[in-house]
Amino acid sequence: MTIKQLYVAGAGLMGAGIAQTAITAGFDVTIREVDDNLVNRGVENVKRRLDSLVQKGKLHAAERDAALARLHPTTSLEAAGRADFVIEAITENFEAKRDLFKRLDGICRQEAILASNTSSIPITRMAAVTKRPDRFIGMHFFNPVPVMPLVELIRGRDTSDATLATTLELSKALGKTPITSLDYPGFIVNRMLVPFINEAIRALMEGLGTREDIDQGARLGLHHPMGPLELADFVGLDTHLYICGVLYEGLHDPRFAAPPLLRQLVDAGHFGRKSGRGFYRYGPDGSRVPD
Ligand code: CAA
Repeated sequence: MTIKQLYVAGAGLMGAGIAQTAITAGFDVTIREVDDNLVNRGVENVKRRLDSLVQKGKLHAAERDAALARLHPTTSLEAAGRADFVIEAITENFEAKRDLFKRLDGICRQEAILASNTSSIPITRMAAVTKRPDRFIGMHFFNPVPVMPLVELIRGRDTSDATLATTLELSKALGKTPITSLDYPGFIVNRMLVPFINEAIRALMEGLGTREDIDQGARLGLHHPMGPLELADFVGLDTHLYICGVLYEGLHDPRFAAPPLLRQLVDAGHFGRKSGRGFYRYGPDGSRVPD
């Protein structure tokens, strides 16, 4: 099946990143949010990123304009009726995703594929609320989506071979390198990442080193682009806490249990970069500031 029309549900960090990647790769993308304010903010973010690529000489102004002409903002769910492929990138909450997929299932053409960008919610559980579990798949992108080359594809219990084949093809057309995972908690990447971040938080709690020592350890000793505490701030401490909950519930392994310091920071409203404070402090543009 050839994919031409994409519908991205959610215009936050991930949804806007997915939309930017897709319009730059030549796809027609309808991007949806619940109100005009949110959808316009998502589109503005895409424009800002493309403008910056033009300024850096990495994209021609004409290519930017052509890409933006392929982006169609909407607040309509019914607009998904035209799509070949839907990518859901709304908040990481099962009930919200379940309600959205139920409605999309009633709107989308029979042959359309529904994909979720969830980082932790079982694909099989979401697929089961639709009448098309064979045409349902996990498509997990990484932040920042336009920069990170990986997409993790997750087969639900009833995902068909044809759906996987189409999604593999789409991933490559988007310029991403896909890997395929079974539908077990955390899939492949978060199964590795969550214990790593948790161990760093526990090390900080124990006073094993300062936050800078711990992050430098991973950056300079392991060649990671960000240390685990910086990365947790980047992902969002509330999001990381939620993912820990799903993995711990699913695997009953203490490596996935949220460290008390993580819970305390979230209780205090320190969600990381997006709230201006986490393990570090951030200015309004998201850059690190001294505390
Ligand atoms: N959106 C789009 N592009 C972005 C961006 C963003 N939010 N942030 C940075 N970039 C681009 C910059 O424009 C720049 O592009 P060019 O090379 O074309 O100029 C490039 O990324 C590098 O940016 P910078 O030079 O400003 O900064 P940097 O070299 O420190 O890189 C980084 C920034 C790419 C974020 C890098 O630090 C990095 O790779 N960090 C690790 C990110 C990571 O691990 N992400 C996965 C998180 S886990 C996840 O997403 C899944 C989950 O389920 C939790």
